[in-house]
Amino acid sequence: MLRNTTPTSCASWAELQVHYQQLQPQHLRGLFASDPERAAKLSFRFEDFIFDLSKNRITDETLNLLVQLAEEMGVPGAIESMFTGEKINATENRAVLHTALRNFSDQELLLDGENILDEVRDVLKQMQQFCDGIHSGSITGYTGKRFRHIVNIGIGGSHLGPQMVCEALKIYQQPDLEVHFISNVDGTDAAEVLRKLDPEITLFIIASKTFTTKETITNAHTARNWFLEQAKDVVHVSKHFVALSTNTAEVEKFGIAPENTFRFWDWVGGRFSLWSAIGLSIACAVGYQNFEQLLRGAESMDKHFRKAPLRQNIPVLIALLSIWYTNFFNCQTHAILPYDQYMRLLPEFLQQLMMESNGKSTDRNGQPVTYQTQPVIWGAAGTNSQHSFFQLIHQGTILIPCDFIAAAQSNNPIGEHQALLLSNFFAQTEALMQGKTRDEVRAELQQKNLPEAELEALLPHKLFRGNKPTTSIMMKQLTPYNLGALLAMYEHKTFVQGVIWNIYSFDQWGVELGKQLATTIEKELLQDTPANHDSSTQMLINYYKSNG
Ligand code: F6P
Repeated sequence: MLRNTTPTSCASWAELQVHYQQLQPQHLRGLFASDPERAAKLSFRFEDFIFDLSKNRITDETLNLLVQLAEEMGVPGAIESMFTGEKINATENRAVLHTALRNFSDQELLLDGENILDEVRDVLKQMQQFCDGIHSGSITGYTGKRFRHIVNIGIGGSHLGPQMVCEALKIYQQPDLEVHFISNVDGTDAAEVLRKLDPEITLFIIASKTFTTKETITNAHTARNWFLEQAKDVVHVSKHFVALSTNTAEVEKFGIAPENTFRFWDWVGGRFSLWSAIGLSIACAVGYQNFEQLLRGAESMDKHFRKAPLRQNIPVLIALLSIWYTNFFNCQTHAILPYDQYMRLLPEFLQQLMMESNGKSTDRNGQPVTYQTQPVIWGAAGTNSQHSFFQLIHQGTILIPCDFIAAAQSNNPIGEHQALLLSNFFAQTEALMQGKTRDEVRAELQQKNLPEAELEALLPHKLFRGNKPTTSIMMKQLTPYNLGALLAMYEHKTFVQGVIWNIYSFDQWGVELGKQLATTIEKELLQDTPANHDSSTQMLINYYKSNG
């Protein structure tokens, strides 16, 4: 099981505090100048990837101390507990086995006496047959026409992962098939998607682990009504609606037949579920073989995570960096900056993965934590983001660690675009690290022959202190396999952070509260049931009632 230690009580924590005092004033420029081997020492290779940690405010000693912290917090044992199916999601009494979804080994994985890999493979086979049927045209709509549109209806983990992966792998998109997503309960989402579609050639995938999520069920009913306006007869529903869920009873109540239901299990967390049946829209969009490649890339990262020593273990090191910045530099945010248009939805996906997992303030003893946990995750694709928020990263008052992510080869190699894109990636990480000194700014301004007074006035505004930490993640090409490995890396990073913060990463009670409250108010709005609110909430409800 997971250990129950307060990280601040570890010997390494105190040592890290001392080390922080020594390292904090040092500039990355100096660290690079004093060690020509720095990049080689602080970068890590994994298959087609390079993870360059050298532009972080660390030394060998920092990593050694952080690894010591991971050991004191029982990270190696926690990793094993996760992979072997111990019920480490203790507040829900569940195992955490998303890694089983991409486990292609021929060994058994027993959970409560059952080899769960058999069930996993049965569902994968079901998904493959379904995808092949859609692509070959042997599975059709109620008038016998081939499906041309697939609409995934889901939210949170039943939406963000599939949508992000479909976008990232768009180049692999099957011809003559478009994938759409409806998630928001705002009717505009459904209206805008459905407006473009023809019911005869549209398949709806209702993706919901619980099958009770209000947004998804409401959107699913809207889609069903829209479909029936044209199809008229409810018998046709079974040809156009499939469900992805752990809750087969609720699926049946909705009217979707068992043969159109793709199951998964309570040991798959919503935000870790794109590898399960929840990935059906991905498999349909890019073909089952590519979906399998995604799983195989993740499996390879899983093996690395499980076996590599902590000091060479990429997800562990990336997690430890985040602990370093969050708990010693007091950074409160972390930016994700994919320099790849196809990966533009990665920040949104990682927001849920990390913030829903580790946005907690109660430790595994049930006590309030006395240290920071999850920082805010945000970001957007480069180079667009350079023209929106990069100013703040360069010259603002807060320190923002950033992940820069790119592929060396473009999936759309047009002229010089890739070289231009990547020159921005390299230039930004270099500039954030180096900054621009007073002497450098002065020399630049002197070249412009500015009068001395004007030069002096301008100089402080053009100064860049630099010393801004970045991690560069580069892969050869954005393929399904490499994407799988990258996403698994971030999943494991999230897990390790939670282990070290001594919190439970796999529940989300905070989200449940909002759901409960909305259900009560919904009754009030739709059925006029009286209720007792604070004066602000009551005023807003009254405003809606008289204007809505
Ligand atoms: O946001 C809360 C949450 O429970 C997520 O964890 C989950 O991904 C999302 O809602 C959707 O849940 P479901 O797949 O059960 O509809």
